Amino acid sequence: MELYIDTANLAEIKEAHAMGVLDGVTTNPSLIAKEGIDYGKRLAEICEVVKGPVSAEVIATEYQAMLKEGRERAKIAPNIVVKLPCTVDGLRACKAFSDEGVKTNMTLCFQPLQALMVAKAGAYLVSPFIGRLDDVAEDGMVLIQQIRQIYDNYGLKTKILAASIRHNKHMVDCAMVGADVATVPFNVIQQFMKHPLTDSGLKKFIEDYKKAFGG
Ligand code: G3P
Repeated sequence: MELYIDTANLAEIKEAHAMGVLDGVTTNPSLIAKEGIDYGKRLAEICEVVKGPVSAEVIATEYQAMLKEGRERAKIAPNIVVKLPCTVDGLRACKAFSDEGVKTNMTLCFQPLQALMVAKAGAYLVSPFIGRLDDVAEDGMVLIQQIRQIYDNYGLKTKILAASIRHNKHMVDCAMVGADVATVPFNVIQQFMKHPLTDSGLKKFIEDYKKAFGG
């Protein structure tokens, strides 16, 4: 399972990268707005650190404008993946980029037919938003399972990128049902190696050793 970080914050990206298991980065307009920095400049900085896929979302919502903006973003670095919304214009742009050999990440996916359509258009990644479905009293994990089943039924190669992950249970459930990738905020990644019994067990080991041998 691949792990991406969901942030535009360079310090977080560097720290997660230093853990040695980071495969890629996703950004979106809200995340870049939080940083208050030029989107293109930040993407170039991210691509200096992470050599795996870096998703760059278009701001445009109309087909031709998406193509123009996506092509500009794709020039930033060879590992840029153009991120487009799961709309009809986004689907058309996805197909055009696939035909040009540019990788796409189809975002804001909330139902399985969006995932089927973008896979048919050659999307490299599809991003179902688990947490936001849970927020409106639906079950985000059901969507991941449905997409997994549909893709497996037809041998569709688009990778399922579980997004809007809020806590460890989301991550465990995604791994259990076979999401290919998860994109996770830094504060959640920081929880992945934590357990109170690890901390107390380690403390006891060191105390016992020092009691017996000093130091
Ligand atoms: O980047 C897309 C997605 O991961 C956003 O998550 O927490 O804003 O629903 P969230």
